[in-house]
Amino acid sequence: MLDIAFAKPGLPKSGALVLLIHEGEKPSGLWAQLDEATGGAIARAFDVAEFKGGKGKSCSILAPGANLSRVLAVGLGKLADTTQKTLEEAGGTITATLSRETNVSVANTALSPQQAAEVALGAVLRSYRFDRYRTKEKPEDKSKLSRLTVLVPEVPKAKAAWEPLNATAKGVFLTRDLVSEPPNVLDPPEMAERCLKLSEIGLKVEVLGLKELGKLGFGALLGVSQGSVKEPRVVVLQWTGVSGNARKLKDKPLVFVGKGVTFDTGGISIKGAAGMEDMKWDMAGAGTVIGLMAALAGRKAKVDAIGLVGLVENMPSGSAQRPGDVVTSYSGQTIEVINTDAEGRLVLADVIWYAQQKYDPKFIVDLATLTGAIIVGLGHEYAGLFSNDDALSQKLTAAGQATGERVWRMPLDEAYDKQIRSDIADMKNVGGRPGGSITAAQFIQRFVNSKPWAHLDIAGTAWSTKDNAVTPKGATAFGVRLLDRLVADNYEG
Ligand code: BES
Ligand code: MN
Ligand code: ZN
Repeated sequence: MLDIAFAKPGLPKSGALVLLIHEGEKPSGLWAQLDEATGGAIARAFDVAEFKGGKGKSCSILAPGANLSRVLAVGLGKLADTTQKTLEEAGGTITATLSRETNVSVANTALSPQQAAEVALGAVLRSYRFDRYRTKEKPEDKSKLSRLTVLVPEVPKAKAAWEPLNATAKGVFLTRDLVSEPPNVLDPPEMAERCLKLSEIGLKVEVLGLKELGKLGFGALLGVSQGSVKEPRVVVLQWTGVSGNARKLKDKPLVFVGKGVTFDTGGISIKGAAGMEDMKWDMAGAGTVIGLMAALAGRKAKVDAIGLVGLVENMPSGSAQRPGDVVTSYSGQTIEVINTDAEGRLVLADVIWYAQQKYDPKFIVDLATLTGAIIVGLGHEYAGLFSNDDALSQKLTAAGQATGERVWRMPLDEAYDKQIRSDIADMKNVGGRPGGSITAAQFIQRFVNSKPWAHLDIAGTAWSTKDNAVTPKGATAFGVRLLDRLVADNYEG
């Protein structure tokens, strides 16, 4: 992970210097000092490049003098419009642009401690790289950037502001690591093992294996798993930032549930070969819940929260479930499995029911790469939000705007629910092509007991085929920052 430091403003003796500049800002402080030390090189370069501090604009000056290897100016746009997102994106630009530098200092005349930490967060988030399986990479292809020093007058305050953001970034990295792992490595038992390691950071972790799930009667989840030689797992991760070690929780916990299909072939309703490798990402909902729980524990959030993940592999085989099978879910409701590729909702059904039997949730938020249809509807920009609760939806929408992990509310309605009626069981697991993401949500809602509940369909946002401001291409960890923010802004203290 990129090493972050904070120091009092002063011209660095070497390395690269970044100037964060607002639109229309006049040179002062370090900027003015540097311009003088370089005989006006900075002002001339800005002039030639027509750099005026506009948002998203930048200007790079090589070997400007004053022993610096490079000066990078990053525009922040108008001072009055500066948000956390602006600063994070500037941080991301720094990382993306200065990969050939080792040591980078960042300066701005008016950074508050909190804002300094937000620049650092963007820089760190953009620096993520999954290189566990690269054995032959040339040094010149790797980023050299190892330390970023943000120059800010109130150093101890900036360090204090960075601490919780650092914990969130670690949660994001954990999620990205899990989602990036290949499916032969990260199968359900391995994923459960990685959860168990999180007891080191103060999470209480419980694992339910095949036997326990059978005894409990997780018929829907086990039906999905039965074609695979990999055993299923359900993992419960508990963070009791309010209740501590008390036997009973002091208040209703926040509950997060994730779909963890470590590989989705479709089962007997098998998918086509093209792009099937992407289905290693079908555990992103679970990966996000795990990273979120790590973030909450890492920053010692003042909240009680429980994360539950349903881990299975969906394979075709002689023991696989057939289209037409009827399974009895943990709730007792029966399901006619019309399409074995609509497996995520089957997994969620049992885990959500378990969460309500075992705990008394303040709310339930589930995350799942559930439907291709949500990509048709919303593309890769917004996740689909389905909820029975306007207040919770509003909070999620606000947290989405604040973090850039945006959600768009979609309808739920009795009329859609009719599409999943079965002729021989309580329901079927697909509702036909029309409104495919909605009928998937209606299915999940049948397993929710009049509790505030929100379902996030992250099929379009869990990974990206292009680099974004604070998210390099690949696993995004969409949802970790969104839900961390939901918790921080509404449920702590
Ligand atoms: N994991 C897929 C959804 C998905 C598709 C995620 C593409 C990311 C990219 C899910 O299990 C699935 O297969 N859904 C089916 C449902 C259908 C059979 C009703 C789909 O969307 O095609
Ligand atoms: Mn599927
Ligand atoms: Zn799936």
